[in-house]
Amino acid sequence: MTILFNNEKPFVEGVNINELTSIIATPFYVYSQKSITDTYKKLKNSINAEIFFSVKANSNLAILSLMKSLGIGADVVSSGELKRAISVGIPSEKIIFEGVGKSKEDIEYAINNNIRQINIESIEELNMINVLAKSLERKVNIGVRLNPNIDGQTLDKISTGRKTDKFGIAFDLLPEVCSQIKILKQLCLQGISCHIGSQIHNIKVFEEIFNKMKLAVKIVDENGFSIKHLDLGGGFGVAYNKAEKELSLNELSSLINSFFQNTTYDISFEPGRYLVAKSGVLITKILTSKTNASINFLITDAGMQTLLRPAMYNAYHNIVALTNNNIKKKYTVAGPICESSDILAKEITLPQQQTGNYLAICDTGAYGAVMSSNYNSKVLPAEILVHNNRFSIIRNQEKISDIIAKDIIPNWLKN
Ligand code: LLP
Repeated sequence: MTILFNNEKPFVEGVNINELTSIIATPFYVYSQKSITDTYKKLKNSINAEIFFSVKANSNLAILSLMKSLGIGADVVSSGELKRAISVGIPSEKIIFEGVGKSKEDIEYAINNNIRQINIESIEELNMINVLAKSLERKVNIGVRLNPNIDGQTLDKISTGRKTDKFGIAFDLLPEVCSQIKILKQLCLQGISCHIGSQIHNIKVFEEIFNKMKLAVKIVDENGFSIKHLDLGGGFGVAYNKAEKELSLNELSSLINSFFQNTTYDISFEPGRYLVAKSGVLITKILTSKTNASINFLITDAGMQTLLRPAMYNAYHNIVALTNNNIKKKYTVAGPICESSDILAKEITLPQQQTGNYLAICDTGAYGAVMSSNYNSKVLPAEILVHNNRFSIIRNQEKISDIIAKDIIPNWLKN
């Protein structure tokens, strides 16, 4: 958790959040630079592998600049994310493009920017990249994303590596993919990759991944290629509540060492959540309160439009009150959106609250702001980065006038 209390005042690093609420309109996200930096260093010092930050978890340019300054590469899934990574100066040789549905424009942009590798997700895509590379007169470094048919033992909606999931190329097609690549003269096979899901807590799942991917390397080898890079995906589990345990980096490190000593290829991971989730909090104001059928509702200005995870995945985020008192009460915290699923937390105990108070929704640095929406014509939230006792607004709150201005009324409806 990023927020700490000092004399009952809530701080992120050296910045008092009460002071932020007096100058910045809620809801807003706050990230701690120190926490992100420390998390990355802990990971980097624990495991012997290259790290690519999965930009989808938090794509704010300030966060990407921080990642760049730490020397991390980027894993992107669209030309939009690729533009973001390039615009902060992440070197193109440190960028991997991996996405289940890439458009022609996405691929051309990636080819023109000479990135380290485009990971292909279907045989059809393989052919399409070859055609585009030919018309651009380029040789393209590719990786093959496999679907290893492994169950990540995580939430159904964030599982990606079972054979029935839409991601990757079926493992059994690997020899066929290799023969195809031999024919496609514009393509250079650099690596193979997989990502079997998010929030993996059980180290045994990684053991399964490593086994299967080593087998994949052998198959590729037997089919006449030797790869340079083996990308083992992201998915490192973080603990959002006390019952969950964080993936053990010690165990992961031993596993890596036992599987990948003296290999002729390098190995890499592409974590998103692990690097940023615990370094962000979402600050929200209580707009009103009421009791319906003995449930005490606190209705906040953050909701599923600001943080979709609880509504979409039933995800748990710890909520702390910024003002304390000795009376404890059970509350259900709900957003302002006209949907019954817009609940941020059910039946949690908080110090007694009143309208106008502020709450912090914890561990929201990953898949928070990036998944926010304009539903109910709500504006996207501001984002703040804290560094020691300084803070910077790294994204302004959107203006409702900007959203409305995007709509176009056709002439035939104007009088
Ligand atoms: N690599 C690939 C190919 C991915 O699809 C993903 C995430 C990652 C890496 C990073 O996974 P991570 O280390 O962050 O678990 N919106 C969901 C999470 C969706 C993850 C999608 N893919 C959530 O809020 O839980």
